[in-house]
Amino acid sequence: MQHLGARDPLKVISVAPVIAHRGASGDAPENTLAAVRLASEQGATWVEVDAMVTRDGHAVIHHDDELGRCNDGRGWVLRRDLADLARLDAGSWFAPCYAGERIPTLDALVQTVLALDLGLNLEIKATDGWEEPTVEATVAVLQRLWPANRPLLVSSFSERVLRHTAAALPGVAMGYNVTAIPRNWEDRLQALGASSLHCHYQASLTPSVAAAIKRAGYGLLCFTVNRSADARRVLDWGADGVFTDYPRRLLAENPAR
Ligand code: G3P
Ligand code: MG
Repeated sequence: MQHLGARDPLKVISVAPVIAHRGASGDAPENTLAAVRLASEQGATWVEVDAMVTRDGHAVIHHDDELGRCNDGRGWVLRRDLADLARLDAGSWFAPCYAGERIPTLDALVQTVLALDLGLNLEIKATDGWEEPTVEATVAVLQRLWPANRPLLVSSFSERVLRHTAAALPGVAMGYNVTAIPRNWEDRLQALGASSLHCHYQASLTPSVAAAIKRAGYGLLCFTVNRSADARRVLDWGADGVFTDYPRRLLAENPAR
């Protein structure tokens, strides 16, 4: 386990070096309870999933602003009520055996993660302009269901989301997601109060930037790493962990140092 958040002792959490991305999303439909259960069966101890908000203010697990890629719905998530989303099939697109799998509520996702004793990286995906209602809905569930002594990492590409999250959950460890690492990464992490930087493993990461991030006391997680050789490389550079669609493969081929 790698320790994130060395800069702020109140936010230190231990994160596994292999994190199941959207659950075991290479082998099950992404962001479903089936994908989370499969990640656990495959040996993962941490999962990452994406949270969004419905028109009627419920946090749900879904990656895209619009429905359709991973379910039989259409239109914008923020223009649908929870009851509409609950009817959608989020499994058939992946394989017939997953027919009837649903878009999970954050409630159900949290209950599943806790029952499986997994660590959680909840990535908040707010449609531009809807940062505040998205954070509000998400935080309400976390405050109600997430035990204080369990590892939780909230992350986002959106600085607005992270600022709202920090205000609502001042003690929570936060990850700042970027594709390419900005030149002023340290100023941004500090201003946001983030514990870790989460970046694309190829876009701009180099051994010297990885070392600088670690020297500065921040965690470093890389997405989305599906080949063991790539995982080994970034872990050797100092990354604390990788997000992967194939936890079984990466765990079996042991990319951890
Ligand atoms: O949180 C890491 C990773 O999930 C960020 O990218 O698009 O897969 O949510 P994305
Ligand atoms: Mg994500």
